[in-house]
Amino acid sequence: MLKHIHLLLVLLVVGVFLYRVYLAERKPELLDQKWLKLAPHGLASILLLSGIALTLQGGWLDMAYGWIVAKLILMLGFIALGLLTLKSQGKQRWQAFGGSLLVLFLIVKIAAAKQVVFFL
Ligand code: HEM
Repeated sequence: MLKHIHLLLVLLVVGVFLYRVYLAERKPELLDQKWLKLAPHGLASILLLSGIALTLQGGWLDMAYGWIVAKLILMLGFIALGLLTLKSQGKQRWQAFGGSLLVLFLIVKIAAAKQVVFFL
């Protein structure tokens, strides 16, 4: 149940991010809507809380938890690259966007493998 909430929040965070990138390119004036200012912070905070709750519920801290630390750090990286994507323009925007998608992919791979070096 909690895991499904976690996954739903991931989809919402990614969905709102993609929508903001689309607006930044096509209709930047719409980016100033109040809900679009609040939603990313609200959703990311609840995603973080759901991750912490899952960590405690699963007793993951009793095992090798490097992958959870990795997820936390990468999540900060995703947020930073996401901000850069929206603040920058042209080539730099697409580089930051590509980087944010790559970091997201890494987080999902690490989450599924439950270890940092998921390809071993
Ligand atoms: C952008 C951020 C995040 C993404 C994309 C993400 C993605 C995922 C995915 C796809 C799973 C399911 C993996 C599976 O079991 O197959 C998962 C599970 C999990 N996530 Fe996250 N997550 C994020 C943030 C976090 C954070 C910040 C934490 C901890 C503070 C966290 C803790 C967990 C835990 C403990 C599970 C395992 C639940 C279980 O199987 O018992 N996640 N996450």
